[in-house]
Amino acid sequence: MDWIIRPVNKLHGIILPPADKSITHRAIMFSSIAEGESQVDNYLRADDCMRTLNAFTAMGVSIDTSATRLKIKGVGLGGLKSPAGAIDAGNSGTTVRLLCGILAGQDIAVRLSGDASLSRRPMQRIIEPLVKMGVRIQARDNNFLPLEIHGTPKLRPILYTSPIPSAQVKSCVLLAGMQAKGSTCFQEPVKSRDHTERMLQAQGADITVTRLLVTIKGPARLKPFSIKVPGDISSAAFFLVAATLLPDSKITLCNVGINPTRDGILEALRNMGAKITVTVTAVVSGEPVADITVESARLKSGEIKAGIMPRLIDEIPILALAATQAEGTTVISGAGELRVKESDRLKTISEELKKMGAHIQEKEDGLVIDGPTPLTGRDVESHGDHRVAMTLAVAGLIAAGNTRVNNTACVETSFPGFLAELQNLSR
Ligand code: S3P
Repeated sequence: MDWIIRPVNKLHGIILPPADKSITHRAIMFSSIAEGESQVDNYLRADDCMRTLNAFTAMGVSIDTSATRLKIKGVGLGGLKSPAGAIDAGNSGTTVRLLCGILAGQDIAVRLSGDASLSRRPMQRIIEPLVKMGVRIQARDNNFLPLEIHGTPKLRPILYTSPIPSAQVKSCVLLAGMQAKGSTCFQEPVKSRDHTERMLQAQGADITVTRLLVTIKGPARLKPFSIKVPGDISSAAFFLVAATLLPDSKITLCNVGINPTRDGILEALRNMGAKITVTVTAVVSGEPVADITVESARLKSGEIKAGIMPRLIDEIPILALAATQAEGTTVISGAGELRVKESDRLKTISEELKKMGAHIQEKEDGLVIDGPTPLTGRDVESHGDHRVAMTLAVAGLIAAGNTRVNNTACVETSFPGFLAELQNLSR
C-alpha cells in the first residue's frame, strides 16, 4: 500500500493518540502471568501488540478481546503451556525480547520467529544474560531469529552490567530475575524507559531502583491489576512536529503518557524553539498523563546526544525531519542503536529525506543536518519501517508537490488510522 501525500496549509484540532505500545505489551504479558483476572483498558489494537496477545493465547492464557477492555485470566508464573507451534512475533522486537525473559523460568521449549526485519535484529543482547542464568537458547548464528528457548525453574540470579541502554534487555533480565531465587541486579549505562519496573512494582514484585541499578528479588508472585493505557508519546511525536512545522497551526493532543523516561522529544523540540504546553491531567496506573498543545514555531538547530537518547530513541526519524527545517546545523550523536531498529534508521531516514532535498550527513552513530531546507515531493520508501513511513508522510505535508510514500502497511504495527488522523487535522 502506498500513500499519496499532498501539501496542506495548516493543522488544527484535537487528537487522541493511540494507546502506548510499550505499556500495552507489558500489560498483556504481566497480567498473563499474574494470579487472577486483570483488565486492560484502552489497549493498543495494533499488529505488534496483537503478536504478544496471540503468543499468550497460544500458551494457554484466556484473553477476552470482545470489548475495548481486555480481560486476561492470568495463569501465574509457571502456568504457561507449550504452544502448539512456533510463536510468530511479526515485526515486534518487544514481543521477542520480553517474552524470552518470561520463558526463562518456564520448563517448556518454545520456538520464536519473526518477519524479515525482525529476523535481522540482534538477539545476542538477551541471549547472553539468559544463558548466564542457566537458560538454553539456540538461535541462528547465536544472534538471530528463529530461536528456540528452553527455560528452567532453576534459574540463577545474576548481576548484569549492560553495555547498551535498552529497556527491552533490562525488562528481559528483570522478568527472568523475578523467577530466580535471590537478587538479580541490572545496571544500565543510561536510564531507559521504566514501564516494566513501575508495572511489576504495582503487581507486588520486590523491585528497588537506585539510579541506574535495578534489583529484583525472586521468586515473585504477581497480583492481577486493572490498568488504563495512556496515549503513546512516540505516536504523538509525529503530530508535534507536523504542527510545529506548518504555519498557523495549533493542535492539542489529549491523554498522552509523559513518563520522564519517555519525554525526551518534548525537551529536544522545546530546546529547538518549539511552542509546546503540557498540562498534566492525571497519574493513571502509575504513569503521568497530560494534554499537550503545540503551535507552529520557527526552529533553531539543536544538539541531541547520548545522554538523552533512550528518552527519545524512537523519535529520531521525526526529529531529523524537524531539523531539516531548523536554522543552523543539528548534530545527533550517540544514536548507534538506530542501526538495529525496524530498519537501519540512520541510513533509511537520511536516504529518503535526501531524496526530498534535505541536507543530511549520515555518521557512524548519528546524523548531521543543515537547515532550513525546502523539501520537494518525491517517491520515497518506508523500508518497511513504520516510523520512517510516518515521518515521510509528515515531510510530504510541508513539501512542494505531491509525495508518494511506498510500502506503508508497516504503520499497522503501531498506529492504525494514522493517515486518517492526519487528514482530519489538515486544513
Ligand atoms: C521498547 C524499547 C526500545 C524502543 C522500542 C520499545 C520497549 O527498544 O526502541 O520501540 O517497549 O521496551 P530498545 O530496548 O531496543 O532500546
